[in-house]
Amino acid sequence: MSPSPLAQLDQQTAELLSTIDALTSLDALRDVEATLTGKRSVLAALQKSLGSLEPDERRAAGAELQEARRVVTAAFDERRRLLERDARLESLESDRLDLGDVVTPDVVRPLAPGHPSLVAITQRELEDVFVAMGFTVADGPEVETDWYNFEALNIPPAHPARGMWDTFYVDLGEPETVVLRTHTSPSQIHLMEEAVAKGTLPIHAVMPGRCFRRDTPDASHLYAFHQIEGLVVDRGITFGDLAGTIETFTRAYFGPDITSRLRPGYFPFTEPSAEFEVTCTICRGEGCRTCSFTGWIELGGCGVLDPAVFDAVGIDSTQWSGFAFGFGVDRCGQMRHQLTDMRALTENDTRFLEQLS
Ligand code: PHE
Repeated sequence: MSPSPLAQLDQQTAELLSTIDALTSLDALRDVEATLTGKRSVLAALQKSLGSLEPDERRAAGAELQEARRVVTAAFDERRRLLERDARLESLESDRLDLGDVVTPDVVRPLAPGHPSLVAITQRELEDVFVAMGFTVADGPEVETDWYNFEALNIPPAHPARGMWDTFYVDLGEPETVVLRTHTSPSQIHLMEEAVAKGTLPIHAVMPGRCFRRDTPDASHLYAFHQIEGLVVDRGITFGDLAGTIETFTRAYFGPDITSRLRPGYFPFTEPSAEFEVTCTICRGEGCRTCSFTGWIELGGCGVLDPAVFDAVGIDSTQWSGFAFGFGVDRCGQMRHQLTDMRALTENDTRFLEQLS
């Protein structure tokens, strides 16, 4: 009987395992893969030689050989895994940049800390002026239903006055139309409803916030802008109280050399109504492009509350009266800082922003 082809198997396996153990690089491992576990390996050659055995012997030898291949392949795979891990760690280590090596102090500028935008600064300054005059500060939602933005303010559907506030309508498939508010005036309605529900009249409040109109941006318009609304509901309030409030505000905020004027105007929710204008701070009243050569900048509107608005919120207009105003926060900031173009507020030009820090 010829010696079994597997007589040396244990020793051959041990040799393969120690060769595998001695591999120290992935390149070397790839070079010898075929001779260790592949077609050109000792184990593959032994596999072929089993053909000459009797069926019984062949089965037993086959199982033995298969086990040897499993052990060798497992050792090989494990070796590959370890070498791959080492290679990865090595490349991470060599990729690591030490900031101290790549930058020198004269190329690194200190990080500039951020600061509030001019609009936020302006809003806070305006609030401060009104708080000093005895107003509280409230706010309202930026998205309103048609009722709050228009109807409760005495602007029924299809009323021509809606043209002044042509805007962004949002179709949510709701029973009611939803709009991005076109002015802060709907916050008047919220405040009055709340005061009626809680029995907390009178009201002396300002409500700053963001508004939206389908406007083309120019030197004095943005389509997303900010207003500050004022609302007073008390007993015996007159147009004189409104005019005095506007004048006091103008002097407190812009300084004594800037004057205000009220021109007759029209708003459906106030009667009488007025446009509130201040001297253009760019040309000091001489006339320039920013003020369309009028010497005046319109800041907003105001007026004595229309009884129709009181009716809408359930306030008795024989007992209470009031006034409201609403004007542009961005425009106040523009006038206070003499920006010829309001679009500077949203363009994020760092040369402009850095002047504010
Ligand atoms: N809401 C008006 C506007 O945006 C301004 C306004 C407010 C007018 C309050 C009268 C009273 O044009």
